Amino acid sequence: MQIGTLRIKGHAALAPMAGVADRAMRELCRAHGAAYVVGELTSAKGVSMRDHKSSQLLYVSDAERPMGVQIFGGDPAVMAIAAKAAATYRPDFIDINMGCPAPKVAKSGGGAVLMKNPKLAADIVRAVREAISLPLSVKIRAGWDENNKNAVELAQRCEAAGADAITVHGRTRMQMYAPPVDLDIIRQVKQAVHIPVIGNGDISDANDAAQMYEQTGCDFIMVGRAACGAPWIFSQINAYLSEIRVLPDPPVSQRMLTLLKQVRLMIQYKGETIAMREARKHAAFYMKGLRGAAAYRRACGELTEYDQLQQLCFQICKDNGAANDFS
Ligand SMILES: Cc1cc2nc3c(=O)[nH]c(=O)nc-3n(C[C@H](O)[C@H](O)[C@H](O)COP(=O)(O)O)c2cc1C
Repeated sequence: MQIGTLRIKGHAALAPMAGVADRAMRELCRAHGAAYVVGELTSAKGVSMRDHKSSQLLYVSDAERPMGVQIFGGDPAVMAIAAKAAATYRPDFIDINMGCPAPKVAKSGGGAVLMKNPKLAADIVRAVREAISLPLSVKIRAGWDENNKNAVELAQRCEAAGADAITVHGRTRMQMYAPPVDLDIIRQVKQAVHIPVIGNGDISDANDAAQMYEQTGCDFIMVGRAACGAPWIFSQINAYLSEIRVLPDPPVSQRMLTLLKQVRLMIQYKGETIAMREARKHAAFYMKGLRGAAAYRRACGELTEYDQLQQLCFQICKDNGAANDFS
């Protein structure tokens, strides 16, 4: 697939996830075979004023490339300034968020509310297109609500305004994250535009990945929540889609070692205090499906130091008869 001039190899990308898919997780997912990653959504206003938080969110390390940075906002002029400023961080492409349901984002006039105003959405894409020469993608939802599923119109307008690719999360704004994703709306978008369409929503294993490609005809897929606590999902998807090979989930010891690696990276990038607070949720992700997971998750909620996490991981391996593999 190509996003403008950017050639993407592989089968599946890591979705942007604010507060979750940070640099550590993105690097780990790339190392496990994610084709590209997208950074956490960043306020155009903050970027245009070059505030500290935005600069941190826009940083792109070599281990993450190819990586897109994502901006949100509702004012074409501010979005253009923000895109120019974001381009100085040398991302491989820029993504515009038109899917986020969060009130904080809606207040800026950006995110999913733009789906209610396709003309403004297109004006934003055009303004950003004129401001930067980097490849440009737009991430949208199926529509605002069940009665306003206008992803097709929005995608066509974005294409006409200069977008190089469209990612479609097949749910409406009102559906948030709950009901099953609508693959048909992604198929309709794919049939309506000439730029690549990236299908997103509810891909939780390699089989779902294959279904997304087959049922929508999309050019690429994007995985979000299923990569949390399971970065190996990308190698599983790659093995399945390129060789019809089913890779099993890694054993408990491997899972725990991967968690520790992720948290070590977090500590390196954020310092132990912030990293350990944020590591609680990541650690809990890695416990999913383990026998006694509820108790382990409670222990994750108490973590303040890396050593405690290491001990917990060792205990989990011991409980699963895998202490010898934990080194
Ligand atoms: C915790 C969380 C944070 C998210 N943050 C963003 C974001 O910053 N930008 C964005 O475009 N989508 C964001 N999303 C939506 C995801 O990118 C994705 O579209 C959605 O989770 C559906 O894909 P999935 O079923 O594979 O998780 C977020 C989702 C979650 C669960």
